[in-house]
Amino acid sequence: MIYTVTLNPALDKTVEIPSLTVDSVNRITTMRTDPGGKGINVSKVIDKLGKESIATGILGGDTGNAIESALKSMGLKTSFRFVEGETRTNLKVIDPVNHTNTDINEPGITVSEEILNSVLQDLLAKVNDQDIVVISGSLPKGSPKNTYCTWVKACKEAGTKVILDADGDLLAAGLEASPYLIKPNNHELSGLLGRTLETPEDLEKAARELMEKHSISKIVVSMGGDGALYVTKDETIYAEGLKVPVGSTVGAGDSVVASLAVAEESGMSLEDTVRLSTATGAANVMCSGTQAAEYEVIRDLIPKVSFRRI
Ligand SMILES: Nc1ncnc2c1ncn2[C@@H]1O[C@H](COP(=O)(O)OP(=O)(O)OP(=O)(O)O)[C@@H](O)[C@H]1O
Ligand SMILES: [Mg+2]
Repeated sequence: MIYTVTLNPALDKTVEIPSLTVDSVNRITTMRTDPGGKGINVSKVIDKLGKESIATGILGGDTGNAIESALKSMGLKTSFRFVEGETRTNLKVIDPVNHTNTDINEPGITVSEEILNSVLQDLLAKVNDQDIVVISGSLPKGSPKNTYCTWVKACKEAGTKVILDADGDLLAAGLEASPYLIKPNNHELSGLLGRTLETPEDLEKAARELMEKHSISKIVVSMGGDGALYVTKDETIYAEGLKVPVGSTVGAGDSVVASLAVAEESGMSLEDTVRLSTATGAANVMCSGTQAAEYEVIRDLIPKVSFRRI
């Protein structure tokens, strides 16, 4: 089973307001709400790929209930711990006249170390050495900086393969516990190594440095529209990005993480992993917001993926 962990989920509320004006009454023309947060996005894409996952993490209040029931009505399996407080709602205001995107984000739940530890124990009680745990996204307020180090270490000790997708200090902390796979984008990898990395060759060198230093088995460096680099102990593949009409690039990385988890679980070859994840990334970019692409779209893109070894 694949378990996704979202410690800081959000209800994403997207509204359209033509000619948004501050200090004035604004009227919404269309609106939608989607359960969000990186791990949750990963679970949505795994479902579209025809596989199962269990979405876990922390929820609270009416917004937490709304997220859980939305996920259940999509047919996803969930196992969240409900805590005191209200899961955040993130408001995204799209102005189609002035072509602006304005985000207004709530602070969300504040957690204690005890709460985090009980959520971790909930997960450890379920997993076994056949499982994959995907840990991704930000942490709620109150979380210690080394939270992902603790989680990666504990999940590894339980025998699972851990995929970590985080940024900055959170990623750096997680690396200390040697996750199985990480998927930084080129900017995150540059930030981590403290130098600007541009070419696939530069990125490969940096990824190998990191792999050796932290005993990581696989690193996938995504490069937005320029594709991604797949680095394992024995080989490196660079896959170009597919040329597709762009709806929204939000969550493109999460869809790549989902396909990497599915590929790992089904023991796919590196070539097939590259095909699936490049197609999944591109298909999701074609959708608006964080909506997950249908499998038919992904399937049709698979033969179009081109890659080379470096
Ligand atoms: N404009 C695009 N056209 C085609 N494919 C894209 C585009 N942007 C992203 N992709 C695909 O999605 C993958 C992941 O994108 P990206 O590198 O932007 O992830 P990310 O920065 O981690 O995103 P996020 O964290 O916001 O989900 C890329 O490797 C590529 O395959
Ligand atoms: Mg990302």
